[in-house]
Amino acid sequence: VNTRPKTAVVKIGGSTLGAHDTSLQDLVALQREGRRVVVVHGGGAAISDWLRRLDTPTRFVRGLRVTDEATLDAVVAVLGGIVNKQLVASISALGGRVCGICGADGATLQAVHADAELGFVGTVTGVDLTLVNALLDSGLMPVIAPIAIMVDGESRLTEQLLNINADAAAGELALALQADQLVFLTDVDGVRDDNGALLRNLNRTEAEVLLASGVISGGMIPKAEAGLRAAASATCVIADGRRAGTLRAALGENPPGTVIDGVEL
Ligand SMILES: Nc1ncnc2c1ncn2[C@@H]1O[C@H](COP(=O)(O)OP(=O)(O)OP(=O)(O)O)[C@@H](O)[C@H]1O
Ligand SMILES: [Mg+2]
Repeated sequence: VNTRPKTAVVKIGGSTLGAHDTSLQDLVALQREGRRVVVVHGGGAAISDWLRRLDTPTRFVRGLRVTDEATLDAVVAVLGGIVNKQLVASISALGGRVCGICGADGATLQAVHADAELGFVGTVTGVDLTLVNALLDSGLMPVIAPIAIMVDGESRLTEQLLNINADAAAGELALALQADQLVFLTDVDGVRDDNGALLRNLNRTEAEVLLASGVISGGMIPKAEAGLRAAASATCVIADGRRAGTLRAALGENPPGTVIDGVEL
């Protein structure tokens, strides 16, 4: 009998944190119920905002931000700093017990260059759960900014930081943690098909068609890809974080949004 407490990884999209959002209350309630919850946050809009202020142009390739040195600095400062610490303060004010870290802390997220075209963007190649498990065992909810340490050809840590897409980071953490559930909270109600209709379920074959035809584009690409990877072990849901109660519902029996079906038929 598996008596392990249920573990959930929740990815909060930068665009979803707003006044009507109950995601943070939901996180605190889950923690009170004894759930092991790991939060990974994005912050795409906040980074773009800062880059605009710095007059640094930014562009995306297949949903991933092209990251030169100046952009990497902004990612570390904005995601690891402002967005992460504001989330820590907001969740704390609601009564949650949290610790904000970035993936470089404890060498939690280890990565290699994803693609020369993307600059300092990483693909996660290793996850060290020591810090995350220590926090969870202490009753603290880790809130993780998606920044990794680059490893060399011998898997040794270097001093180079890499920008990781938050969806990919959440997927890799869910796999490493053998999480039961992975929820992507975003600013749409789920994955939409070529007619704009919400898909309640998405399997690998359907996802590959939608990815190839460009119906799944931009920021939905890494969500679909990470969800398909993690769906091997976790129940994966993509749902609208702006709607009250979405997170609670997404972890329940009849989840809203799109459920990614990892089993090949
Ligand atoms: N087939 C699709 N169905 C639904 N949304 C799609 C689809 N294809 C692309 N998208 C886009 O994906 C977006 C969600 O990804 P986006 O990266 O913008 O937000 P996020 O990941 O929640 O936030 P952040 O990047 O800050 O973490 C939607 O707003 C929508 O415009
Ligand atoms: Mg995104």
